[in-house]
Amino acid sequence: MKETIDRLRSAGTVRIEAVDTIAAVEATRVALLGRKGEVTLLLRGLKDVDPADRPTVGAELNRLKVELGDLLDAREVAIAGGGQGTAASFDLTLPGKPPAAVGTNHPLVSVLESICDIFFGMGFSRGDGPEVELDYYNFTALNFPADHPARDIQDTFYINEKVCLRTQTSPVQVRYMERTEPPLACIFPGRVYRNETADASHSAEFYQIEGLVVDQNISLADLKNTVDTFVQNFFGADEPTRFRPHYFPFTEPSVEVDMQCMVCRGKGCGVCGQTGWLEIMGAGMVHPNVFAAAGYPADKYTGFAFGMGIDRIAMLKYGINDIRLLYENDLRFLQQFRGVL
Ligand code: DAH
Repeated sequence: MKETIDRLRSAGTVRIEAVDTIAAVEATRVALLGRKGEVTLLLRGLKDVDPADRPTVGAELNRLKVELGDLLDAREVAIAGGGQGTAASFDLTLPGKPPAAVGTNHPLVSVLESICDIFFGMGFSRGDGPEVELDYYNFTALNFPADHPARDIQDTFYINEKVCLRTQTSPVQVRYMERTEPPLACIFPGRVYRNETADASHSAEFYQIEGLVVDQNISLADLKNTVDTFVQNFFGADEPTRFRPHYFPFTEPSVEVDMQCMVCRGKGCGVCGQTGWLEIMGAGMVHPNVFAAAGYPADKYTGFAFGMGIDRIAMLKYGINDIRLLYENDLRFLQQFRGVL
């Protein structure tokens, strides 16, 4: 009897593996386990087995019945999954297969968006300008006279004599003012280009965000308050900021803005070059010549502008020590920001 059971087990298994339609699975189920099926017939024959062996043989037969039943079920599911299934064998409620890889925002994009969100909260809107820009907007309208040495500070990629890749987001200020009457408050984030040799802190392409506020009676105090509100919201602590006098052709007075180093809290460390301060942006009061280029009447408005490097802000916030990491598309670097930003 043991032999008969074993033979039926292997023959049944082979048979089940060979079928390839749902109908054939059902026919095999009947042939093996149906009322006159082979396993059923053996079970009926149990009464003729020696009473001493009956419990073992009975248990063995029942195991065979369950095994073949499971194999038949599995075969049916496999065939249905292969596209030949009926609606009844396709379970819509089963969870889907998770996709192999899900992308996320690039850290620079996430930082850019969160900076914008903070300014939206202060009532700024968002504007845009071209990356391939006229020399006129990139320099001349911003009060850089034709042969002024300040043009040399920004190593410019020229397309021809009149067209360049913008070296800063400041040209969008003039483009925006040409078509907007004050009062206005707007930010202009985007990519800029300079002919720099890449190293840990320089890249030939990088991101800036420009801010511009124009109305009657805007003062440097409004700029200070705006900068402080941004720093507190973005870096999440009340780091003090300070203004240092500086020169930019398109603002007067001009300042560079530092925030207290959030790593050492002003004591001096490697990140801030032992100074306790980190430079975060250039800023100042909009120069009257820039208002004139935009077509605003003289002496009617005042305004402030600022420009900061988004890469640098991202590097400070996340302790990234090489700007090139932001442009190499190395997934081992980028994946570290999954779920963080
Ligand atoms: N455009 C300047 C740069 O790239 C940064 C800057 C300085 C922007 C002062 C401003 C500003 O709006 O007022 O170096």
